[in-house]
Amino acid sequence: MNNALTPEILAALSAVSLQCVECSALYPGLEVGSAFRYRCNCGGTLDVEMKFALPEAQTAPVQAPSGISSALKSDSDPALLTGTLLRQLFDERASTLPTWSISAGKMLLDYSGVWRYRELILPAPEQYIISRPEGNTGLYPVGIENCNPGRIGHRQIGLYAGLEHLFLKHEGENPTGSFKDRGMTVGVTMANLCGAQAVACASTGNTAASLASYAAQAGMRAIVFLPAGNVAGGKLAQSLAYGATTIQVEGNFDDAMHLVEQVCGELGIYLLNSLNPFRIEGQKAIGFEILQQLAWQAPDWLVLPAGNLGNTSAVGKAFRQAYQLSLIQHMPRFAAIQAEGANPFYRSFKQGFARQEPVQAQTVATAIKIGNPVSYTRARRVIEESNGIVEDVTDEEILAAKTIIDRAGLGCEPASAATLAGIRKLVERGVIKRDERVVGILTGNLLKDSQTGIPQQSEGVAVAANIDAIRRIL
Ligand code: F0G
Repeated sequence: MNNALTPEILAALSAVSLQCVECSALYPGLEVGSAFRYRCNCGGTLDVEMKFALPEAQTAPVQAPSGISSALKSDSDPALLTGTLLRQLFDERASTLPTWSISAGKMLLDYSGVWRYRELILPAPEQYIISRPEGNTGLYPVGIENCNPGRIGHRQIGLYAGLEHLFLKHEGENPTGSFKDRGMTVGVTMANLCGAQAVACASTGNTAASLASYAAQAGMRAIVFLPAGNVAGGKLAQSLAYGATTIQVEGNFDDAMHLVEQVCGELGIYLLNSLNPFRIEGQKAIGFEILQQLAWQAPDWLVLPAGNLGNTSAVGKAFRQAYQLSLIQHMPRFAAIQAEGANPFYRSFKQGFARQEPVQAQTVATAIKIGNPVSYTRARRVIEESNGIVEDVTDEEILAAKTIIDRAGLGCEPASAATLAGIRKLVERGVIKRDERVVGILTGNLLKDSQTGIPQQSEGVAVAANIDAIRRIL
């Protein structure tokens, strides 16, 4: 399993350890000669803990702190300095021209919206990194006040939300059309570092498409487990086209998730669901990129759709670290939005997180049709420490919000529209104030699902190819 590990890889990853989110037990980032580890011995999920160091060139003027913990607020002067240096470093890298370097080296990494922040993501030796590159997605100002007056269509979104300052971060603009690419570049890089021959995941579709693409790039076998009949056509097509072994499981996502963990454990395949803590590290880059696009001014609210809760955990962790490193001066409040028929996190939140009870998931937003989220504890921490909130929205509300986003010319898949539906509901309830600065994440591309919530043209609607016929219908 881990036999391919070279001294160079081991040295690079020696700064990384894994900590159980339930009992705080610590494990090395990689255990040589033993099976891959995704859970603590107690069954809890794991979180990456990394010693933080500024790159050589940046350390010259000051004594750099040795670890993230040493850069906490209590140590305010070095922390502020660290924040300034990191902002400079990331801004310099972001100004790199978006071109592929002929030698596929540094420039490619700096242009990736994940590896640009590599000091806060994973200290992987560059030659092992598998990147498209990903990220650099649009952050659209769509609020009543912050929308460009010329963009009347975009402003409709702000009017629908009832917000003056609203931004939508469109993660559907990633290489495979969803936010999953950010975690996957790091996950497949880890698989590469470990010398894995095969990688696998359970998925409602987007993780599978992303895994299939990145594994194909690295020359690894990809095996994806999908809930039969519950994956949107575009996503299934991607997995098949990229050459993944595509297994449709009789059951729901939660069944497929349970199965893939067993399969990976037994067959020594590298598991790349967000249960894998390195996926979470990559997904943090959504948060860093939002901050960079906002000139390092944290918003008041961060709103996103929630299913397996990997993304809530990841973006929350990004903001926590950005705050600890003085990249930003305050934490935003988080709002995680679930579909009403797939709302175990919402139900738990309503009971003060007293219990975690699975539900039988049912929603048109198949991406978040999940009844037993794996990253529950990690996401709970984000909601609690940010004084955040969990909301749920009906399928009708999701589809109505999707129509608004689609008609504005941005477009998104149904699960993503839960973000706007949730924002509207929270503004109506007075939880989010009309003048607060809000960033909502759109997680997937419109083309992922060409059926749900999109008007379908019936057959036989073709028009004669002459101007008279056209005049009659316009
Ligand atoms: N939005 C989209 C488009 C998704 O594909 C997912 C999850 C989510 C939101 C929810 O994110 O699970 O981190 O809370 N899709 C996973 C998949 C489950 O298999 O593609 P989460």
